[in-house]
Amino acid sequence: MGRRATGGPRIRGPSVKILILGAAAGGGFPQWNCNDPVARLAWMGKLRHRTQSSLAVSLDGRHWVLLNASPDLRQQIRDNPQLHPRADAPLRASPIAAVVLTNADVDHIAGLMSLRESQPLALYAHARVLDVLSRNSVFNVLHPDFVERRSLPADSDILLHDKTGNSLGLHVKAFAVPGKIALWLEDPSAARYGSHQGDTLGLEISDGAGKSFFYVPACAGMTPELAERLSGARLVLFDGTLWQDDEMIQAGVGHKTGQRMGHMSCSATIAAFAPLSVQQKFFIHINNTNPLFVDGAPERAQAAAAGWQIADDGMEISL
Ligand code: MLT
Ligand code: MN
Repeated sequence: MGRRATGGPRIRGPSVKILILGAAAGGGFPQWNCNDPVARLAWMGKLRHRTQSSLAVSLDGRHWVLLNASPDLRQQIRDNPQLHPRADAPLRASPIAAVVLTNADVDHIAGLMSLRESQPLALYAHARVLDVLSRNSVFNVLHPDFVERRSLPADSDILLHDKTGNSLGLHVKAFAVPGKIALWLEDPSAARYGSHQGDTLGLEISDGAGKSFFYVPACAGMTPELAERLSGARLVLFDGTLWQDDEMIQAGVGHKTGQRMGHMSCSATIAAFAPLSVQQKFFIHINNTNPLFVDGAPERAQAAAAGWQIADDGMEISL
């Protein structure tokens, strides 16, 4: 554990290791049916392909926690040796000890099905999301005797544990952010499509000794509470779905605004973060139409000038 000895040198604890498994929004980049000018560059091989938004986090480098489980999880595991079963491990083994979900978006839960079947695992999610999982019996492919589903209430500091109760050393504090229910759960006849508090969470992950970062892959607006929470943070990975709110309409590939989909636009986010003194800022969960994918795009320069970096698959950050 990191601590500061009075009058002495700072004793550093183990670093918080963050692996960006996927940087793209739902559908990945390029999405199978997207042919807008940005996706076209990817189809032409001129831009790197990206998998769907997810992080892996570890304190000891041996036990990892997934923040969201993307449909690309199998590829993400293959691409990141830290997540392979180790050579000296038992015949059934994985360094992945737990999963924390921010919402029930298909890009954040479909990867659970790759975590079949009788492997001990702890699964943390808001009660609203646990309810969705329990109503869809296909998720029982994560054998209920081996996978423990644990409630992740908002605004509680929770020390993450593996299935057998060993501490993973990392704390999570979930908090509700403006957003909406997952697309595939929308009820057209209900107010706000049936969205409730807790349908979209941001996460603060910490080592319990002063180092922490935020992962907020979906957020529809900056509230005063959220601004206060993020103010002065070391690191924030934030919703980078669209550059402009009407970008999909302008590109002719959809009829929805970012607001309708539960996402604030990067241009609005850059302005909202300007007074917050966040040390390191990354856009993540980036949509096919977003020019941030394009090297040399003026929007990329604009983001960089405001101190923003663009998440990419395989990036490693340590705190
Ligand atoms: C979103 O972030 O808006 C959703 O992932 C949309 C989707 O399910 O494609
Ligand atoms: Mn999404």
